[in-house]
Amino acid sequence: MTENEGVRLQKVLAEAGIGSRRHCEELIGEGRVTVDGKKVFRFGERVDPRSAVIHVDGKRVETRAEMRYYAINKPRGVVSTMSDERGRKSLAEYVDVPERLFHVGRLDTDTEGLILLTNDGELSHRLTHPSYGVSKTYLAEIHGPIPRDLGRRLRAGVTLDDGPAKADKFRIFDQVGKRILVEITLHEGRKHIVRRLLKEVGFPVQQLARIEFGPIRLGSLKPGTMRALTVQEVGELYKSVGL
Ligand code: URA
Repeated sequence: MTENEGVRLQKVLAEAGIGSRRHCEELIGEGRVTVDGKKVFRFGERVDPRSAVIHVDGKRVETRAEMRYYAINKPRGVVSTMSDERGRKSLAEYVDVPERLFHVGRLDTDTEGLILLTNDGELSHRLTHPSYGVSKTYLAEIHGPIPRDLGRRLRAGVTLDDGPAKADKFRIFDQVGKRILVEITLHEGRKHIVRRLLKEVGFPVQQLARIEFGPIRLGSLKPGTMRALTVQEVGELYKSVGL
């Protein structure tokens, strides 16, 4: 690797979630960072994030090259955790990669659909933190007929037990007789939020599936299967939360 190749050490550290670039520069200046076993004091040092072995205070730093990003289609009846002490089916049943992954947020056990899995703590934190307002889109089956102004009411917002809630977008996706499939987008993640919101306006949810999480779409991924996100999708996820 020549002088101008690679990525600046403070950038690699910041992207690995160690802290702001400024903070990472301080760590380097204080001699707390090693690359391939050698202490580094120079801020401008460039490293190859795919191969450099970096430690801060003796603790191994997982660089982005070691981060993994997947989408899984959680089937209905499966808990949204990687294991379940009560022996119920969990996401672990469907994860067929060796890395230790964690789920980004949750879905109700009887909701199916898109869950992101990763070992990237900073990204996961931002994707689930309310201040980043990442949008999620769901398909909900309700019993019609529904009034013309339902979308308007949901976008205007309703008051739930724990405060106001509203949809960003709402549309009828499909209709077979009285069974109506509606698509609803929100940018929050309170527990049972879609079910509570639709119940409040008089349309209890019969079935629910999440089909989008921020820029990521479930697409044709079958229930119980997972796929690695593309480099482009990971880039879009980062962009969506200011990383
Ligand atoms: N809203 C719900 O009601 N349930 C989910 O699983 C996700 C959002």
